[in-house]
Amino acid sequence: MSKIEVRVLGPHDWQRYKYIRLASLLDSPDSFGSTYTGEAAYPDSEWQSRLDPAARAKNALPLVAETDGDAVGLAWGLIHDPDPRIAHIYQMWVSPAHQGKGVARTLLDEIRTWAISRRCERLALSVTTNNDAAVGLYLASGFTASGPLEALRPGSALTVQTMTMELRSD
Ligand SMILES: CC(C)(COP(=O)(O)OP(=O)(O)OC[C@H]1O[C@@H](n2cnc3c(N)ncnc32)[C@H](O)[C@@H]1OP(=O)(O)O)[C@@H](O)C(=O)NCCC(=O)NCCS
Repeated sequence: MSKIEVRVLGPHDWQRYKYIRLASLLDSPDSFGSTYTGEAAYPDSEWQSRLDPAARAKNALPLVAETDGDAVGLAWGLIHDPDPRIAHIYQMWVSPAHQGKGVARTLLDEIRTWAISRRCERLALSVTTNNDAAVGLYLASGFTASGPLEALRPGSALTVQTMTMELRSD
């Protein structure tokens, strides 16, 4: 089996990022608040600016998992204003052919290490409540449910749950 490697996406990777992000939205429409139709309409400048450290992504860790030159996994760590103590996790996705091999766990570990290095005190994410694989991943990684359920997007019958994990640097 080919090795899967995780690396940080840089500004020159925007087309690769666009490809895998749109693939994730097409594959798993109920896992994300954003939709394939919405993001497929973005201009190239949107994809470029997301990976531009000089723009809004400077407190971000955009990660891609690759094997044999193919992008097979994606996840972002992002620290928002106004609370620099919380690192949020977004866009977690592993292609169906590569699931169950520890790729998501590796992506999560990288974001956790990065968040600790940025002196964050907590990781936070939002997960669709009927997504057994993702809920299983986050529970097994030490996240717990926090706060009320909300609709995945306006008008959706699906609900999302915030989950958080306290960070310790020891
Ligand atoms: C959720 C997802 C990211 C997991 O990725 P993955 O690479 O297959 O996960 P890993 O192999 O790293 O699994 C790590 C742990 O997660 C849990 N897990 C993974 N898949 C699971 C499943 N189908 N059911 C229950 N628990 C599961 C297990 O505890 C697993 O540890 P184990 O293998 O030692 O039992 C993947 O299924 C996916 O991309 N789903 C579609 C998109 C999505 O739901 N994204 C999350 C948005 S919040």
